[in-house]
Amino acid sequence: MQGHVVYAMNIGSDGAYVSRNGITYSAENAAFITRDGGDLFDADSYAAAVTGTEDDALYQSQRYGLFTFELPVTNGHYTVVLKTAEFFHEQAGLRAMNVSVEGQSIAQGLDVFASAGANSALDIIAENIPVSDGSLTIQLGADKDYAIASGLLVTSLDGDKAELPAVTLTIEEGDDGYCSTRSVPVDSDHAGFMGAGFANPDNAVGAGMRWAVTAGAPVTANVSVRFANGSTASRPGTLMVGGNSYVLDLPTTGAWTTWQNAQANIVLEPGVNALSLTANTANGLANIDSLSIRAAGIRGEPCAEQPPPMPDGETLAFPGAMGFGRFAVGGRYGEVVHVTNLNDSGPGSLREAISQPNRIVVFDVGGVIKISERLVFKSNQYIAGQTAPGDGIVVYGNGTSFSGANNTIVRYIRFRMGRIGTSGKDTISIAHGNNMIFDHVSLSWGRDGNFDINPDSGKVIGKITLQNSIVAQGLHSHSTGGLLVGNDGVSVLRSLYIDNHTRNPKARGVLQWVNNVVYNWRVAGYILGDSAADSGTRYDGAIVNSVFVSGPDTSGSVMKSGSTVYHLYADNNFYDPDKNGAYNPFVLSKGGYGSVTWYDAPSTTYPDVPTLPVEQTLDYVIANAGASLKRDPVDNYLINELKSYGTRGAIIDNETALGLAGNVGTIAGGTAPTDTDRDGMPDSWEVQNGLNPNDPTDAMIDSDGNGWVNVEEYINSLVPHD
Ligand code: GCU
Ligand code: CA
Repeated sequence: MQGHVVYAMNIGSDGAYVSRNGITYSAENAAFITRDGGDLFDADSYAAAVTGTEDDALYQSQRYGLFTFELPVTNGHYTVVLKTAEFFHEQAGLRAMNVSVEGQSIAQGLDVFASAGANSALDIIAENIPVSDGSLTIQLGADKDYAIASGLLVTSLDGDKAELPAVTLTIEEGDDGYCSTRSVPVDSDHAGFMGAGFANPDNAVGAGMRWAVTAGAPVTANVSVRFANGSTASRPGTLMVGGNSYVLDLPTTGAWTTWQNAQANIVLEPGVNALSLTANTANGLANIDSLSIRAAGIRGEPCAEQPPPMPDGETLAFPGAMGFGRFAVGGRYGEVVHVTNLNDSGPGSLREAISQPNRIVVFDVGGVIKISERLVFKSNQYIAGQTAPGDGIVVYGNGTSFSGANNTIVRYIRFRMGRIGTSGKDTISIAHGNNMIFDHVSLSWGRDGNFDINPDSGKVIGKITLQNSIVAQGLHSHSTGGLLVGNDGVSVLRSLYIDNHTRNPKARGVLQWVNNVVYNWRVAGYILGDSAADSGTRYDGAIVNSVFVSGPDTSGSVMKSGSTVYHLYADNNFYDPDKNGAYNPFVLSKGGYGSVTWYDAPSTTYPDVPTLPVEQTLDYVIANAGASLKRDPVDNYLINELKSYGTRGAIIDNETALGLAGNVGTIAGGTAPTDTDRDGMPDSWEVQNGLNPNDPTDAMIDSDGNGWVNVEEYINSLVPHD
């Protein structure tokens, strides 16, 4: 072998490689060659070849198939040495390999085991191969497993490496080089994106995304960020690379479906370059479709965060989860965050705990969290209100948004908005998203809806459950239970709607309504689509084993605004209209539902839910609805109204009407059990369950393999379930 080295590659790792028999190969250029040298693996020639072999050794016929390398060179003569030091097989029988350089076969049916013995070095050499097209082609192929080539050396007397051609590397979500997955949701609800969707980082200063790009040499690269900004203002961001920053303006594109490119010329250093793009203003970034980089010798570096798990159609959100939202994943495999004080914001607050997705939120304190701004929940969170000591948590002062909070689980907590909350807003608003479940929550005092599901234009919203909950006392002048417009399915189960002027609920979309109690509506109980329903739109409802009891304020009909676009299946619902202080209902007849399109069986597919006989609905709701681990003074007040069967109850316009201390009543604080490693599971429970109270990593392990991780086993054990 003569001449100077043009390429010397280790095979299989990015560092220098020592073969089993001690021969060391340098890693120079390995990255470039294994990514940009043409087809690494020609699956067409070997149809059975396993895909993904790019990440293997340069050539490792443990995955048989054909590798083709196109190495850029200047024209000249080259000597190629395939280092087969690690070329061995452990199995009996021929493990043949074929090698060709520039189309000339230099080894055919090679059996190195027979030629050189196990673990012995054997160089396969092709000398003085002429190249006239700027590219040296080397092919390695085998049709059986267990043969490994570990190094490749190219030398020349008269030729050299060519300048690498610039390539455009486009990094989509999930590609090598796309680092965010868990922390930045990928959406697909605005057309025109490439790849699987587009990244939608939070709307907050500093929110953004990361990429990783490996370069073989210092190089100037043109970066192009494809984005859409449907808001009316610029969403400037800062692109940081290797200590240099570049501001990208990200101006409005006029629509979320209109995509543009923002460009910058950056410098990449040899090795892995981390790129980040973060928002400069509280409006956050635009939606980001992809990052393209044009430069020579670059590739995306695998760096993806573990994505949050998706609903698997098997693991319930928690034991007893029912209905469309029952598979919400919550914060499973994320992190545990403690709420350690009742502050509105800042370290230890609920607001801070919910500021990031992928969290199980536990409470070390009980009491009233007074909020001035609305709380905005994120995806993949489990808000475990049942962990709060004392009388649990009341959030009071304003409302909440769960828009886009996919896979969120909320349990045993009260959200009480109030007169001081933002006018025209809901206690809970959901404008888009899916896979959410609210269990044993108490909602009240909304200034629009208490529980409002209403898709933003063009958005899909569904797979949502509200169960075992109380939806109460919307504040007049717009006192409502809420809109339930889940075009992809909403279940309301075993819950109480009480003292809402109207919309108990206003049902559109697909709504499963089972074992609920509605009490003391004023102008409208259940609104069936609305007479003003959009023509041509179809809505589906199933009203089953539910109870409607008139209260002192009730004047409007129990079933309101029936429309033929409403496809209704209703069965066995009790109605008690006489306000006489006794519960003496009768079964609502078919005629009582108005002019709907009637079905004798469900008009669409609803999830199977365990259904209580209608005779048990009222008692169940009285005993269990709301944050019932400890009923707070407001819920007790409401349940007592219900138990008056027509003589007590009121539509109110201000929460002061209840006359409770601090408006929400007294909520005892209590003391949380000791949790030394802060993993959400108290020491005593960890010891009892064979876990380590000094190891925080055991929280997110599913020790018994039943789908729920250990900290979920703990938080779910705190509350009763069927
Ligand atoms: C809308 C839009 C999102 C976008 C968001 C924003 O909700 O649908 O895709 O990310 O606005 O303002 O950032
Ligand atoms: Ca009665």
